[in-house]
Amino acid sequence: MGKRIATLLLAATIGFSAIGCSKIDGAEKKVKVIRVAHGQNEEHPQHKAMLEFEKYVEEKTNGDIDVQIFPNELLGATAQAVELAQTGAVDLVIGGLGTLEAFNSSYTVLNLPYIMDSTEHYHEVMNDEDIMGTVYESTRQSGFVGLTWFDAGVRNIYTTKKPIMEPDDLKGLKIRVQTSPTNVKMLQALGASPTPMSFGEVYTGLQQNVIDGAENNELALINNKHGEVAKHYSYNMHAMLPDILIASTSLLDDKLTEEEAQIVMEAADYANKFEVELWEDAAAEAKAKAEEMGVQFYYPDIKPFQDKMKDLHAEYTKDKDMKAVYDKIRAKGDEILARNANTDKE
Ligand code: GCU
Repeated sequence: MGKRIATLLLAATIGFSAIGCSKIDGAEKKVKVIRVAHGQNEEHPQHKAMLEFEKYVEEKTNGDIDVQIFPNELLGATAQAVELAQTGAVDLVIGGLGTLEAFNSSYTVLNLPYIMDSTEHYHEVMNDEDIMGTVYESTRQSGFVGLTWFDAGVRNIYTTKKPIMEPDDLKGLKIRVQTSPTNVKMLQALGASPTPMSFGEVYTGLQQNVIDGAENNELALINNKHGEVAKHYSYNMHAMLPDILIASTSLLDDKLTEEEAQIVMEAADYANKFEVELWEDAAAEAKAKAEEMGVQFYYPDIKPFQDKMKDLHAEYTKDKDMKAVYDKIRAKGDEILARNANTDKE
């Protein structure tokens, strides 16, 4: 059975189980089921954070809500899971920006290569209500909203045959990207042949030489085993992209009471802090394991890569809504630079 058919069948089955039953002291009690879909495995910090989310929601609602987590793209590639959230068949999905930009252009801006100066800048942007509040709300008409973000580190290019030390090294190489127009344009600007495919297909793609490389954080080398095949990882640092926990509007507006929705939002906030705390160590651990596996890490000068992105930045700021988000992000970057320069002087 094809994966897509299996997914559709699964979606049809779960569609009938929005309300479940549990037995407490012999009496049947109706419970509401919240289904969460994501594409990571059980070792990933995002999965661990969602287990904390589950515990929080189930405890605070005295078991009136049963949170069920489907990892490993079990409910389909993220784009399909988001579509299921739009219909309410799935309640929560962790989606990468590459996927979400298909639904609203405010996510596109966050996806721009080198828009963030540092991890400090990236985290401050993500924790800024003024910036992210608008982005999270931008998809309400499409049936979902953003609740919070998860750290997904820094994305870099890795390849099977040779290290990438400058953009020219990418000429003619097929590099997997997320199904994101921005990512496609980025790799084109660097001279590579971008090959969009879902996350779950990348390992086989590398192994069978369908692609020559991909771009991702260090966890992909270990959790998704890409390091078994791709032995050259170059820190060109093109993107710091969060993953977003999105909620179906039908969950928040129809399925849950106001009090329950509040608990879900608190739990999301808790999960965010839990995951961000885990990230750095998880990335360092993945890097160490990858080294043991024979992956070599390279540190190219990032300026030539950055320079190739100027046209993309110019193109994306022509749109006034995108420019508004872009300007806020850049203003924050400049504010942090000035702040750090002052601290250095003290
Ligand atoms: C990372 C990221 C995911 C994304 C994946 C990908 O794992 O956290 O959101 O889907 O990369 O490249 O597809």
